[in-house]
Amino acid sequence: MLCISKIGLGTWLLGGDVIANPDNDDEHDIMAIQYAIDNGISHIDTSESYSGGKSEILVGKAIKKYDRSKIFLATKVREWNLSYNKLIDSCFASLKRLSTNYIDLYYVHKQNPKIPIEETCRALNYLLSKGVIKNVGLSNVGISTIEEYNKYLNKKVYAVQNQYNLICRESQCKGVINYCKDNKIKFICWRPILLSYPGVIDPMYSKGTYPLLDKLSEKYHVSNVQIVAKWLLQQENIYIIFKSNKISHIQEILDTQKFTLSTLDWKELDEKFPVKFNKGCASNEFYEIT
Ligand SMILES: NC(=O)c1ccc[n+]([C@@H]2O[C@H](COP(=O)([O-])OP(=O)(O)OC[C@H]3O[C@@H](n4cnc5c(N)ncnc54)[C@H](OP(=O)(O)O)[C@@H]3O)[C@@H](O)[C@H]2O)c1
Repeated sequence: MLCISKIGLGTWLLGGDVIANPDNDDEHDIMAIQYAIDNGISHIDTSESYSGGKSEILVGKAIKKYDRSKIFLATKVREWNLSYNKLIDSCFASLKRLSTNYIDLYYVHKQNPKIPIEETCRALNYLLSKGVIKNVGLSNVGISTIEEYNKYLNKKVYAVQNQYNLICRESQCKGVINYCKDNKIKFICWRPILLSYPGVIDPMYSKGTYPLLDKLSEKYHVSNVQIVAKWLLQQENIYIIFKSNKISHIQEILDTQKFTLSTLDWKELDEKFPVKFNKGCASNEFYEIT
């Protein structure tokens, strides 16, 4: 099986937001996904809920012209579809939208305390046994939840997808990062560059917001975004999925492969960057700055 690439493309906001945008420039989004694939990003991340399923349709169209075995396709089932029958129906609906007959990595997007994990795992085990999903992932979880799933799954959890970036370190503080490394579970960072909510969160890329980023970007002759991404990419067992449908932005993230932060500079970012969230981010997609 194809290994997951260290840099992956996220597709939240492709095709719309919570619902599909009828005026979306679909061809542009498809072209952006194809640019990413053509330049070595084989890992594409989507969800049944992104733009009401349209993101999966766009991904399906984008990957059609490629050898399927060269693409690592990840999608997610939402927390309201975790009962046995609903999960299986959801998975087959995703397969249809993606125009494929298997999903490399199928995540439980968020937990639903009303549905027993054992029941969700029975459905996941069924899908694994049919070969329509190759691996199971969990998103927005801590260690105890991972362990609970592993009690019932016939194939151990392959990946955990939590928010993790310079600002939000909950997974680091709660030991999830180290737990995943020790247990050979891939740790995938969502919102790696934390730029999605302009006006709510200081955009890290604008000069003058974080002097430390300004200093390092000047030293390495790169952008602030590249420093932000590189701090993650230099960590063992850490994978990123960033979203962009702009060629220049995708290329900028790809270009992070051309430089390396010194150990001293990496450590300075790790220790001195003004962390804002040490709790509350793993389970909440939307959060408040305190
Ligand atoms: N599991 C979960 O609960 C969960 C939650 C949220 C997200 N996700 C996944 O994680 C992916 C990434 O998270 P995200 O989209 O929220 O945040 P993100 O990737 O950290 O940031 C995306 C934002 O950064 C901009 N951007 C990308 N590259 C840039 C560059 N080089 N320079 C300047 N701006 C740049 C994008 O705009 P442009 O498009 O204009 O480039 C977009 O506004 C999502 O797409 C989704 O697949 C998962």
